[in-house]
Amino acid sequence: MGNKRDFLSLWDVTETEFAALIRRAEELRFLRQVRTPHATRPGRVLALIFEKASTRTRVSFEVAIWELGGHAVVMGRNDSQLGRGEPIKDTARVMSRYCHGIMVRTFGHERVRELADYATVPVINGLTDLLHPCQVLADLQTVYAHFIEHETRTPAGSVPDVVQVLRSLRYAWVGDGNNMANTWIEAAGLLGLDLMLACPAGYQPNPDVLETALRKGHGRIQVVRDPREAVAGRHVISTDVFASMGKEEEVEARRRAFVGYGVDRALMAGADGKAIFLHCLPAHRGEEVSDEVIEGPASQVWLEAENRLHAQKALLEWLLS
Ligand code: CP
Ligand code: NVA
Repeated sequence: MGNKRDFLSLWDVTETEFAALIRRAEELRFLRQVRTPHATRPGRVLALIFEKASTRTRVSFEVAIWELGGHAVVMGRNDSQLGRGEPIKDTARVMSRYCHGIMVRTFGHERVRELADYATVPVINGLTDLLHPCQVLADLQTVYAHFIEHETRTPAGSVPDVVQVLRSLRYAWVGDGNNMANTWIEAAGLLGLDLMLACPAGYQPNPDVLETALRKGHGRIQVVRDPREAVAGRHVISTDVFASMGKEEEVEARRRAFVGYGVDRALMAGADGKAIFLHCLPAHRGEEVSDEVIEGPASQVWLEAENRLHAQKALLEWLLS
């Protein structure tokens, strides 16, 4: 188990590995559509540890490992000794002796890092306050799938190159500079994407994440205030809740601070005519997104949610190989 790989941040994969994950995720999407079994990881056991609520992450990982021929052990906040204060480093060493991989959703990013440091099996970040890499992997699979299906961006007969397709588009983020915004910044750095984020004062993305992406990466990343400037002519418009998990006490203050940052029809009208709308969900209609946009023709949120399953299967095949 000496050479285990983790997936805590998008920087844990190379551009080539990222593209391979998206290609495999697309193959797995097709295999499932045509009901071809693909139990490529029989007998593997994946632990799922949740210190925060989840619908998509919980179900998609559980179904993913099951369809790969393995099994999930799910632990909620109050089911394990972690909830009673057992150190994460002890949990990591014990779980590594039972399971072939550990996915964890928690608060501080340092908890996932500590788990990965002490675990001898691969650790996957299923969301921290800082990053949500599994979601952006699925988001970029969605972008790739949508734009190769709806637009010809490569010569007929050739397999569209993942990075080339993703780089041919322009991306916008509107709203909170949260874990999703930070992960989009990582993606832009890693893959060389053109990303503009509009965040209100006091709700900027993490400065270290931004600095790392600008230093290590080769994307074009700008943070502005005006949502209209951020979406102008762009192909992929993403947003997320104004108050993430753990920020419940700030809901009212954030509602006031984010006035004008909701993605509605008027804002989408400024994007490229073929733009798509993404949201990791859960969504608050009438706050960060209007009902009209999330239910409208540009919305790809349901395929985006589905792709969590396929993208994570590709990830599990790779990490549990
Ligand atoms: N998008 C996402 O991670 O959803 P859950 O919180 O339901 O897992
Ligand atoms: N930013 C949100 C994402 C939920 C999937 C949160 O952290 O609550």
